[in-house]
Amino acid sequence: MKPVEINDLPTSVWLDINTGVFEPCVEISRRKVSDLAMMFADQEAVQQLIAQGDPVVYDIRYHPFQTSTSDMALGVSTIYPGKVGDEYHMTKGHFHVRMDQPEIYFCVRGTGFLLMESKEGDFQVAEWRPGTITHIPPQYAHRVVNTGPEPLIWVASYHLAAGHDYEPIIARGFAKIVVEKDGQPVFLPNPRRPNSG
Ligand code: F6R
Ligand code: ZN
Repeated sequence: MKPVEINDLPTSVWLDINTGVFEPCVEISRRKVSDLAMMFADQEAVQQLIAQGDPVVYDIRYHPFQTSTSDMALGVSTIYPGKVGDEYHMTKGHFHVRMDQPEIYFCVRGTGFLLMESKEGDFQVAEWRPGTITHIPPQYAHRVVNTGPEPLIWVASYHLAAGHDYEPIIARGFAKIVVEKDGQPVFLPNPRRPNSG
């Protein structure tokens, strides 16, 4: 990542809500099936997809706003439609390293769900369509799932200092996984958590 520049002047960026492209943007990250391999329940499907070309699951565009007295960041993420086995494309999901840090997600295109779970095990779901804005309180891990036929695009606004903690998600996932059954999304207990019922 490029070093974050301090800029004390007002700044605007421009977002194309159809593509998720915004300018200026200092970094673009791309996550493929192999980057999320451990996150999906169907490991056979994971290996097959990797062998067939390792499709992109989502892109993240990122821009920091650092002044001499404050910090904020903007992330625009695009999950492409698709599944791994029966499980819909999704983000890795994370807690913030700083457990006092909330975040706002603003869905601009597509449909799906935002899964949120606290360390104490409170599991919450927000259903998303364009225009849905969700405030994620501090201490809730967050993951987005694209259950629709088009890209799911949203804007994330958070403090640069919040940080990302992926380890608990890599180790245990979320309480539920979201899979397609008879053409509809359904929530199933996470098979990696035998007691999540
Ligand atoms: C930042 C944030 C988003 C995500 C992005 C990708 O705190 O929540 O910008 O980083 O949507 O998701 P992850 O980081 O879980 O791969
Ligand atoms: Zn976050």
